[in-house]
Amino acid sequence: MRYIGNKTKLVPFLLDTVETLGLSSGVACDPFSGTGSVGRALKQNGWRVHCGDLMAASYAYQVTRVELDRTPRFPGALTGGSGRRRYLSYKAALRVLSALPPKTGFITQHYTPAGAAGRMYFTPENGAAIDAAREAIASWHSEGLIDRPREQLLLATLIAGADRVANTTGVYASYVKSWQPNARRTLDLRPIRPTVPRAESALGCTAFRGGAEALVARVGAIDLLYLDPPYNERQYPGYYHLPELLAQGWDPPPPLRGKTGLIPDEDLRSDWCRRGRCEEALRSLLGAVDARHILLSYNDEGLLSRESIESAFRNAGDPDSYRVFTRGYRRYRSDSDGPDRRYRGDAVRERLYYVRRP
Ligand SMILES: C[S@@+](CC[C@H](N)C(=O)[O-])C[C@H]1O[C@@H](n2cnc3c(N)ncnc32)[C@H](O)[C@@H]1O
Repeated sequence: MRYIGNKTKLVPFLLDTVETLGLSSGVACDPFSGTGSVGRALKQNGWRVHCGDLMAASYAYQVTRVELDRTPRFPGALTGGSGRRRYLSYKAALRVLSALPPKTGFITQHYTPAGAAGRMYFTPENGAAIDAAREAIASWHSEGLIDRPREQLLLATLIAGADRVANTTGVYASYVKSWQPNARRTLDLRPIRPTVPRAESALGCTAFRGGAEALVARVGAIDLLYLDPPYNERQYPGYYHLPELLAQGWDPPPPLRGKTGLIPDEDLRSDWCRRGRCEEALRSLLGAVDARHILLSYNDEGLLSRESIESAFRNAGDPDSYRVFTRGYRRYRSDSDGPDRRYRGDAVRERLYYVRRP
């Protein structure tokens, strides 16, 4: 999925660094998990990973890509009782969702031109397909036909499918005023493969929806803490309100605000995106965690200066173990330069800050 700060491309750098540091697999925590790409890579490398994030949409990805150890089967009853099969494959369950009659629901009414606000996030046809699928997932879950992991797997699949036909330039802070070629395509629910653990040490991975401090308190003593917090003032819920709405559902329907139909997000706003608060957020998290090794991803255009990270890290662990690993990469451009923001070219340096605890 297109996601600001998605570390898929930086996974090799992270794994190289972990190897350089001589860390062998153990228990890891990824409390700013986003799409779950790092948690997934660590799990593939034998780590038992506890993921977390404030956003419900991230939770769906975490369950799908990190918590689940295999692709589950679904009950045959999802076909409405007419089918004789006891079980359906994941792909067959997606075919059931895709074949549902279109439904004019919350998404069609508020995020397509068929609604009074005339928002153009989706075509009315895709809006009605998304509504039908989302409401079916909600009723399958409330009727006890699917459990939480299956529900989250279907939600992640729907969020990813909706993202492919969203009429945006990558984030949901605005929609394009004419239909883009991807938005004209029909909603296509493509399976997402859970990560099969290659070693017993990677069994027992978990997902969590909530703040980083709550997660580190919950997991207790761990071997590796990997931190990938937001690094600028862009609050994620304002950029991803539609994936979040699909993850949260609309029962009861949330009040919407603004031209883009934002949903209430006070509890999803992060101190890491606030200039005056991010330094304290880092110090407080480092003070709360019980981890042997700590790695922080941060790029050189972030709110936290290198000096403040260095000071917080040296304070939190053995000062002599402090190291910084650096790699350049091409940035993910979600939008263009504007009066409030000027990119310094296409190349960004991403740093991994490390400290070991005594
Ligand atoms: C840079 S992104 C992480 C990207 C992720 N590593 C990936 O590869 O997709 C930062 C994430 O931190 C989450 N976040 C922000 N503040 C948080 C907090 N206090 N606790 C937990 N998650 C938070 C955001 O919702 C966002 O998903």
